[in-house]
Amino acid sequence: RKRVRTHYLREMKQRGEKISMLTVYDMHTAAVFDEAGIDVLFIGDSAANNVLGYETTIPVTVDELLPLVRAVARTARRGLVLADLPFGSYQASPEQAFHTAVRFMKEGGAHAVKLEGGAEVAPQVDKLATNGIPVMAHIGFTPQSEHALGGYRVQGRGDAADRLVHAAEAMQDAGAFAIVMEMVPGDVAAQITERLEIPTIGIGAGVGCDGQVLVWQDAFGLRTGKMARFVKQYADLHGVLLDAARTFDAEVKSGAFPGPEHTF
Ligand code: KIV
Ligand code: NA
Repeated sequence: RKRVRTHYLREMKQRGEKISMLTVYDMHTAAVFDEAGIDVLFIGDSAANNVLGYETTIPVTVDELLPLVRAVARTARRGLVLADLPFGSYQASPEQAFHTAVRFMKEGGAHAVKLEGGAEVAPQVDKLATNGIPVMAHIGFTPQSEHALGGYRVQGRGDAADRLVHAAEAMQDAGAFAIVMEMVPGDVAAQITERLEIPTIGIGAGVGCDGQVLVWQDAFGLRTGKMARFVKQYADLHGVLLDAARTFDAEVKSGAFPGPEHTF
């Protein structure tokens, strides 16, 4: 199957075909999601709180994310490999954003990068887009700004809807090839999606977006505990792994494993 590229995502929008995107942080999940036909394989900075044991995305560094990007890029045959720029690695200047994005492409093998923010990061988006680096924007609730936003809450309600529309237009005008919208009222997200030529990818933004993204450990039930309302659980991997690990533990301790067929 042909490699997914940014212009193909735009054609999908024009044809009314939906775009699928999942987070992915290692080789075996990359191979499975790629085989399943997931269009965008996304190494989110959510690796912080899904792989590396941090509580939020704020502490994770470029050096910590790069090996995960490399693992996915080496494995994926079809999906677009998209790397997240972590907090503090792009906000200071367009030059800083360019330097960081180049590392993700040269050292990580990413095909595109994503960053959070609206008009305030337009110079960064423009710098990348005009220098050969496809960039996806991320508006609405932006986890790297959770302390400024006052925690996890829906963005763009009421009067704030206009600001969100402007943020989306600023990102398109700056050259973004797509926009993630996180925790945005469904009607506002649908309205933005209709106005834009570039695809929108929703997470907690309703069915009116051009595509959907979820964190895979949430969607497939590896993580347990309280989930955001926008998560749909497609599998119970926690349960599957827990059963397998318990059975292994029991068989080791009883001597049932290894059997003669596992022994040289
Ligand atoms: O890092 C992440 O997981 C994200 C979301 C859009 C899924 O940015
Ligand atoms: Na992210």
